[in-house]
Amino acid sequence: MDNFVAKSHFVSVENLSVAEINALIQRAEFFKQGGQVPTLTKPVYVTNMFFENSTRTHTSFAMAEKKLGLTEIPFDAAHSSRSKGETMYDTCLVMNALGVDLTVIRDSQNEYYEPLIHPTAGHHLSIGVVNAGDGSGQHPSQSLLDMMTIHEHFGTFAGLKVAIVGDITNSRVARSNMEILTRLGAEVYFSGPEYWYDHSFDRYGKYLPLDELVDQVDVMMLLRVQHERHAGDANEASFDEASYHAQYGINHDRYERLNPECLIMHPGPINHGVELAGDLVEAPKSAFFRQMQNGVFMRMAMLEAVLRGRHIGGLQ
Ligand code: CP
Repeated sequence: MDNFVAKSHFVSVENLSVAEINALIQRAEFFKQGGQVPTLTKPVYVTNMFFENSTRTHTSFAMAEKKLGLTEIPFDAAHSSRSKGETMYDTCLVMNALGVDLTVIRDSQNEYYEPLIHPTAGHHLSIGVVNAGDGSGQHPSQSLLDMMTIHEHFGTFAGLKVAIVGDITNSRVARSNMEILTRLGAEVYFSGPEYWYDHSFDRYGKYLPLDELVDQVDVMMLLRVQHERHAGDANEASFDEASYHAQYGINHDRYERLNPECLIMHPGPINHGVELAGDLVEAPKSAFFRQMQNGVFMRMAMLEAVLRGRHIGGLQ
């Protein structure tokens, strides 16, 4: 393969071309099939700075780094000097001064990465930034592992019907996926509570009642109800798990109505009995574990792209 992707930073899927997306999927599939991992001839140091909680993304990046031969420098966000008011920029400056080459960051602030990747005059930060999720902005690694999982199952995106269902306004996964799926040729539909739907999404697809979509779609992409982002949301006080599940969740009845080849996807963590019946999490149509497995290989492909874009590691 000679069409390697090269990126100075990896913060969004919006600036990826379709050719780059396909090349990343191809590369991740190659790694998954046991293809030769490039050899580093110079050390590369990376920190994973997660200022929001994470299980999958954090551990998956750590695994991908290990498989690529990068050296992870431990970083404990909860006990870091951010709690003393140190800015994100200054924290990265510290890492830079200590010799860290790349940093994988999750933060609650949308586009926290802008000052890091476009330092203004007089600022000299030079560290590769990989976005592991910014507020309700983007979650590029989740989006790309989702695309890999869909591609692995169907072999194409063209004409696939994909429903994105749930707490859409608060979801960085949804924002990344609606954009990228549309560009890849899939038909996007939306469902879930109207109060968590924003009509700015209309340009990507149609909003329809869930029961009109269940029989029709190839991919049922469920989103977690993100209570932690509902401060000030009047709907939070009246939220009831059983009512949500009955109206917007995949219960056994809806599961049976899904096409036999349909993939149920969820970025995790799953609220059992809310987005999906708890005993369907490991059901045959559920791609939840496949998504997580694929995440390691896609993150390897993304990190490799940044190593190539920054000309570090002396890849062979
Ligand atoms: N999908 C996802 O971002 O999960 P974590 O919050 O556990 O990383």
